[in-house]
Amino acid sequence: MKSSLLVNPVVVILLLLLLLLGLAGRVSPSTRPPFACDPRDGKTRTLKFCRTKVPIHIRVRDLIGRLTLQEKIRLLVNNAAPVPRLGIRGYEWWSEALHGVSNVGPGTKFGGAFPAATSFPQVITTAASFNDSLWEEIGRVVSDEARAMYNGGTAGLTYWSPNVNVFRDPRWGRGQETPGEDPVLAGRYAARYVRGLQGSGIGNRLKVAACCKHYTAYDLDNWNGVDRYHFNAKVSKQDLEDTYDVPFKACVVEGRVASVMCSYNQVNGVPTCADQNLLRNTIRGQWRLNGYIVSDCDSVGVLYENQHYTATPEDAAASTIKAGLDLDCGPFLAVHTEEAIRRGKLGEGDVDLALANTITVQMRLGMFDGDLSSQPYGNLGPRDVCTPAHQRLALEAAHQGLVLLQNRQNALPLSTSRHRTVAVIGPNSDATVTMIGNYAGVACSYTSPLQGIARYARTIHQQGCSDVECRNNQQFKAAETAAREADATVLVMGLDQSIEAEFRDRPGLFLPGHQQELVSRVAAASRGPVVVVLMSGGPIDVSFAKNDPRVAGILWAGYPGQAGGMAIANVLFGVVNPGGKLPMTWYPQDYVAKIPMTDMNMRADPARSYPGRTYRFYKGPVVFPFGYGLTYSSFAESLLKSPTKISVSLASFKLLENSSVSTNGVRLSHANCDIPAVGIHVDVQNTGPMDGTHTLLVFSKPPVGKWSLARQLIGFKKVSLVAGSRQHIRIGIHACKHLSLVDENGTRRIPMGQHEIHIGDLKHSIVLRADAEGIKS
Ligand SMILES: *[C@@H]1O[C@H](CO)[C@@H](O)[C@H](O)[C@H]1NC(C)=O
Ligand SMILES: *[C@@H]1O[C@H](CO)[C@@H](O)[C@H](O)[C@H]1NC(C)=O
Ligand SMILES: *[C@@H]1O[C@H](CO)[C@@H](O)[C@H](O)[C@H]1NC(C)=O
Repeated sequence: MKSSLLVNPVVVILLLLLLLLGLAGRVSPSTRPPFACDPRDGKTRTLKFCRTKVPIHIRVRDLIGRLTLQEKIRLLVNNAAPVPRLGIRGYEWWSEALHGVSNVGPGTKFGGAFPAATSFPQVITTAASFNDSLWEEIGRVVSDEARAMYNGGTAGLTYWSPNVNVFRDPRWGRGQETPGEDPVLAGRYAARYVRGLQGSGIGNRLKVAACCKHYTAYDLDNWNGVDRYHFNAKVSKQDLEDTYDVPFKACVVEGRVASVMCSYNQVNGVPTCADQNLLRNTIRGQWRLNGYIVSDCDSVGVLYENQHYTATPEDAAASTIKAGLDLDCGPFLAVHTEEAIRRGKLGEGDVDLALANTITVQMRLGMFDGDLSSQPYGNLGPRDVCTPAHQRLALEAAHQGLVLLQNRQNALPLSTSRHRTVAVIGPNSDATVTMIGNYAGVACSYTSPLQGIARYARTIHQQGCSDVECRNNQQFKAAETAAREADATVLVMGLDQSIEAEFRDRPGLFLPGHQQELVSRVAAASRGPVVVVLMSGGPIDVSFAKNDPRVAGILWAGYPGQAGGMAIANVLFGVVNPGGKLPMTWYPQDYVAKIPMTDMNMRADPARSYPGRTYRFYKGPVVFPFGYGLTYSSFAESLLKSPTKISVSLASFKLLENSSVSTNGVRLSHANCDIPAVGIHVDVQNTGPMDGTHTLLVFSKPPVGKWSLARQLIGFKKVSLVAGSRQHIRIGIHACKHLSLVDENGTRRIPMGQHEIHIGDLKHSIVLRADAEGIKS
């Protein structure tokens, strides 16, 4: 029966037809007509802005010169209107690709030839890998899929991702979207993910345009009656310069991002989208953004209607555009800008400047280059989405992001011979969409934890609670019975978007409802080892489990993406050695009881019992510290070679005589920073029984005294080592870049004296002294 199918001539012809269609599809899968400059449209031939050989800035000027004021104003918003007389179509600017092409923005839709896209782990999980080549690789894959969907007419080319706000308070509902609490880590993530998305095109060309958001000091959504639409973040110059702005600067300067989004909140009384100092002076002036600045969605309306920052809507329109805003997500600027110009609050030239920034990005994307099929990425189509290789990378990212927090008596990994039956319990035990967190799309497919574990053992499944809120304990008896019968128990607990999300900050850090009771009761009843797997974006106070001798293992999975359940099972059964590290501090519940979410100060203030925030400034007790994570192997680090002194050469002899240098350090602007980094050489050995990866986290600690910093991450390096092998690693230290700090006035300085470098358990001192030797005459 089967073989007759193959020789059936009808089937053969059908197969041939399919093959031909497939080949044709390969040549031109594009179903989208050109956005502008369609070669089939006769009039476009005479338009200079359509000529690809003309430099972009001249094409942009030519186009703007042809637009009427009314046409210009309808281009200031995300839902940009068409200009039919110039052959330009409408464009929806708002698409999202935080960890995979997402349908959160109206610019992207799933369906038809594009039912789904690869859904990578949520960013907080991917950050835990501390692997910057992985971040760039994910960006490359996501932008392949985005381009394919654009070609098919179902997505845009401008993606308002990533979110690089510092995860300042553990309750923040959007902390999951971020790379964590450390500004240097977040900056590195931003630069590499953006590079992956935007591609390394020739010249200025963009694969897709990324966007770092939300600038700045935005990390409160809705807490205790204060929401982001009304919140005025009071931020010191010091904290702005050495915490809040750091990831954004790295994103613009190193990542060369094509866009930055300003936030809803105010900073020191000024809405960020109307703050000339932040937008025009810092982002565009100092950091030299080559791209556009976009508002958060309807934040221009918010600053007028909710914050009453301006007296009239026209003033709101004028103040934002003058501050440096180029594009409004929302209708406000389309409605009020013309009247603002008529009343003399704004010039048409201001609108032209804004449009030059947005249209330049569209030109760099190739949107004015006519036919897609002749362009780079023009041949990407449905077959380039959800490919086996892309889905393997989603699994790989989940492997790298899982963090092993506890492993009593090396109870993990489980073994297929001794743990033939596993009780799989908990509200997230069969999770699917929960694993992809927020700002996700439609995943290609899912492997839930239950399905993953079932590949290794017979499973007995009990939800325990019907959802993560876990409002009662009616199902606990059945869960205890399952644990009694099985050789091992895996409890998959934690949160989902009903507990932490956009506009939903958590009131506290404990597991919701009766989850804690479920874990304790099941652990007490269990015959075999008990492992708690936690899904969450933010940290959870699981001290009770950490201290429960019957809980052998704790594994934090974050939101591990479409393949998360497979990755969890692979780690539980030792096919993959976990190597992730926490990208944020896990505080005890006690901590948040003492600290209002609205207090933006990073630094501790003993005078008012303020404990400070993040591992850089908070020195109190923690459940698990920043950078923490175990493996099934063990690694030893030793220092091979390192300088003990670094001379900071000054830009002028006169400064050497200045006594303030020894107390206040050298202003970065007075130092000669154009010198190579010095090398610290470290030997890392895998001394354990299993191949694995190790992440070297390099911290610096400034001289004791006025610099109220515990220590700060200055770099990290992930290495892969087979059991027993060693590797020699060089870490570059640069006084200006790595050992400088920010004073209370926001000025970056290099403190003189003894700096400590911490690498794992290694501690090494380097003495800095000012020196005029390096001065070029
Ligand atoms: C010494 O340092 C202070 C503070 O940075 C500065 O105001 C002053 O101009 C410096 N003096 C000289 C001679 O450079
Ligand atoms: C980092 O990620 C890439 C991409 O998945 C992988 O090839 C590489 O081995 C990872 N690096 C380490 C040290 O694990
Ligand atoms: C910061 O500025 C204030 C006021 O100008 C000044 O008194 C103080 O010395 C400055 N601090 C530093 C570290 O330069």
